[in-house]
Amino acid sequence: MCGIFAYTGHKPNAANIILDGLKTLEYRGYDSWGIAVETSKGIAVEKHIGKIGDAQIRLPNAVRGIGHTRWATHGGVTVENSHPHLDCTREIALLHNGIVENFAELKKDVNDHTFRSQTDTEVVVHLIENLCSMYPFTEAVMIAFKKLKGLNAIVVMHNKTGETVALKNGSPLVIGIGEKEYFIASDVTGILPYTHKVIFLKDNEMAVVADTLHMVDVHTGKNLTPQIEEIHWNMENADKGKFTHFMLKEIFEQPSILQNLATTNDRIAILARYVRKAKGTFFIGAGTAYNASLAGAYLFSKIAKQHVNTAPASEFNYLEDFLHEKSLVIALSQSGETIDIIEPMNRAKEKKATVIGILNTIGSTLYRMSDEVFLLGAGPEKAVASTKAYTAKLATLLLLVYTLCNKREEGQKIVTDAATEIQRFFSDTYLLQMQRLAKKLKNTQHLYTIGRGYAYPTALEAALKIKEVSYIHAEGFAGGELKHGPIALIEKGTPCIVFAPQDTTYSAIISNATEVKARGGYIIGVASQHAPIFDEWVEIKDIGIGSIISGIVPMQLLAYYLAVMKKLDPDKPRNLAKSVTVK
Ligand code: AGP
Repeated sequence: MCGIFAYTGHKPNAANIILDGLKTLEYRGYDSWGIAVETSKGIAVEKHIGKIGDAQIRLPNAVRGIGHTRWATHGGVTVENSHPHLDCTREIALLHNGIVENFAELKKDVNDHTFRSQTDTEVVVHLIENLCSMYPFTEAVMIAFKKLKGLNAIVVMHNKTGETVALKNGSPLVIGIGEKEYFIASDVTGILPYTHKVIFLKDNEMAVVADTLHMVDVHTGKNLTPQIEEIHWNMENADKGKFTHFMLKEIFEQPSILQNLATTNDRIAILARYVRKAKGTFFIGAGTAYNASLAGAYLFSKIAKQHVNTAPASEFNYLEDFLHEKSLVIALSQSGETIDIIEPMNRAKEKKATVIGILNTIGSTLYRMSDEVFLLGAGPEKAVASTKAYTAKLATLLLLVYTLCNKREEGQKIVTDAATEIQRFFSDTYLLQMQRLAKKLKNTQHLYTIGRGYAYPTALEAALKIKEVSYIHAEGFAGGELKHGPIALIEKGTPCIVFAPQDTTYSAIISNATEVKARGGYIIGVASQHAPIFDEWVEIKDIGIGSIISGIVPMQLLAYYLAVMKKLDPDKPRNLAKSVTVK
């Protein structure tokens, strides 16, 4: 979950180019960051703890360097543990994304070296240093890389040979090819201002960048012909505009994204054909994307009268023994890089199952590995808390089930109604109500959310949103599960958010709310009608099954205002990263 950006070329401000590149990659990790550049006196390094923000760099002019923004796995958040890491001679600098699973074992071969960090990464640069006494630099890197266990991407720079080397197994790396200059990055966004020519590095390929570029197969040692692609993406303006945070901007973008999905995307019919053909359809996703896939299971049951399976992607690894060549695995992902998704998708492919990605990021690993892709078209989602990608996934799944029943237009109307309903939440009065509620709840320690039927995934997603940006302990439950344990947690004043749509779940969920209230709970009802049991009423319109999409938005707003009132940064919550590329 770290961001890598490297530059080799003719421009003398390599450090600043790298700093700008790292800013585009901070969504991958923002504990600490660092840059190393080539100089005639050895490698110069600057490292910092915390987010990059408006940092200025003081490194000397250089035409070559490497940079990293970190999400700590091994070793705390300290300057020493930040990347790049140097060998003992300070001639080799290394960046790493992933986890070297066998680092302790490898360390035995280099325990005579001076270690400056507690990371799993540093062992690799010392290994390369040792190997450099026997092999040319690029070969030494290749040999060291082959010794690493786990899913890793590394970029290594030698101060004397003029070479920067990139290798990967798992985590993504892209090479940008400009006019007499090269870029290496974890994704293309930071490269696109300089060049549209890129190579998506494949697993076990090595790119060697110096005055020219060449590529080598790590296993055979043979030269490879670089597969250059021209990327002409319309990188939407990804600044905050009039909003103070990306999270709020992205919440507000939802109506227009849904309108577009409802009216312009013809690829739903292709998805529906795959589902019809499959003998067994499985939906997987992580975090918010899993909540969307769970909502999908309800939609398939209710509308298409079809059983589909769903599991958190990280668990699907242990559930997929029954996959076969007629199975269909559909992964939902905003980033398309989540390792918990990529791994089971790879296994599904090995079993010859068809794999489809419903995703938001063109060119991502999931995009490139899928047999078919469906793009959410939500535009760049920069806030760590996923909002617009969630509702876009729900709309896609809803359109899919209606298309399966040959009722596509009905589905489109429901998505359009959901867009209109969401727009209503942005009136001043509504926003003020959510702010008042946030003020009431901001000092609470624990909060629970409950729902039944298709309001259950909404309850899970509401709790996830609240906990990740406000750090309040929020847990979502199926209403019926309350009595099986969680009700023991209710004390006088414990807030419980109750999703009570006017459907078959209504009387049962109101009974659950009553049970909570009887134990002193403070009931916040999210419903189209006021019920006497509610201490607080968040009014939503009853738009039938479309509420599966719109019903979450008041909770996204609540989570946002809770974070702001607690003086937290809703865009970059602690301990999290936008793209989760380690297990
Ligand atoms: C969402 O708010 C979370 N930050 C997180 O659960 C996220 O949805 C999850 O990591 C999956 O990401 P993806 O959609 O990019 O695969």
